[in-house]
Amino acid sequence: MIRRSVIRSTGHYLPERVVENSHFEQTLDTTDAWIRDRTGIERRHFAAEGERTSDLAIKAARAALDRAGLAANDIDAIVVATSTPDLTFPSVATMVQAGLGMTRGFAFDVQAVCAGFVFALANADGLIRSEQANRVLVIGAETFSRIMDWTDRGTCVLFGDGAGAVIIEVAEGEGTSDDRGVLATDLNSDGTLRDILYVDGGVGTTGTAGCLRMQGNLVFRHAVEKLAQTAHRVLDKAGLAPADVDWLVPHQANLRIITATANKMHLPMDKVVLTVADHGNTSAASIPLALSVADTAGRFQRGDVIVTEAIGGGLTWGSVVLRW
Ligand code: ACO
Repeated sequence: MIRRSVIRSTGHYLPERVVENSHFEQTLDTTDAWIRDRTGIERRHFAAEGERTSDLAIKAARAALDRAGLAANDIDAIVVATSTPDLTFPSVATMVQAGLGMTRGFAFDVQAVCAGFVFALANADGLIRSEQANRVLVIGAETFSRIMDWTDRGTCVLFGDGAGAVIIEVAEGEGTSDDRGVLATDLNSDGTLRDILYVDGGVGTTGTAGCLRMQGNLVFRHAVEKLAQTAHRVLDKAGLAPADVDWLVPHQANLRIITATANKMHLPMDKVVLTVADHGNTSAASIPLALSVADTAGRFQRGDVIVTEAIGGGLTWGSVVLRW
């Protein structure tokens, strides 16, 4: 028998304000048609003034706890993936801990930009496997609207705000690919590629939060190549093949990247969970948001094989395969 991390529940929260593509036509040389054609994005949510990443994270966490019928003190650890924390410190995770009224366990943040949730889930799985926790709340939460250059049409139309949460808990497995829970993980980074996607500020440089800078077409090329590679590798590690996959839940950055990855895995698009049209790119929040939206709609059946994959600044990229 081995320890596996099974998803117990999901939850999400999106800020109330919805901004359609046409909003950007008023201030930028862009069109709704260009944004739809090149990205698949139609609208995104933006946090209200004063609404912080921890506020979104707490609401997503409460939704996941409610759906599981659990109290905050039933959780052993909180891991939050974010690149847009309220403060330099303390972590958003400890703010969530306090916000939920959780008085035990431990909490910390993971920063791997858009790949953050994949890194957080892999680390949370490690905590469960190594007997440091039996139940972990894993959250992706972002307010990327805070780090946009609103004059840069190549970036500011792409991103949105939101939060998603999953609760994973220990279950006994046989150690085979028939087990439920996380079956394999694959994490990667290459720091030499930092200049194609970064934020031009921070505590050690400008003393300000800075703005996101991206060479979109270069990131696009790396994404198409690296996401298919990691997805194939994680399936190999689990002893599974693309034909075994019931659902691909990709990072929601660009519909063209998602379609290219699905094609390379020979997966039809009806096996791909898509939220990019309504959420835009919510960075580390995009995968748990997509998981929760699909779960809420009752799309996953017990035993389904789900692959998640993401790439982000660093570059960082990776994937997780799990059985629902
Ligand atoms: N409206 C109109 N034209 C635009 C816009 C816009 N919003 N944005 C860019 N353009 C223009 C460019 O200026 C360029 O014009 P030029 O030829 O006159 O110079 C032209 O469109 C083509 O630009 P490209 O960047 O080559 O366009 P591309 O087809 O690559 O699409 C995009 C751009 C959507 C950004 C795409 O490259 C992309 O999605 N990249 C990947 C982004 C991503 O996946 N990021 C994930 C990680 S994010 C994270 O970790 C934080």
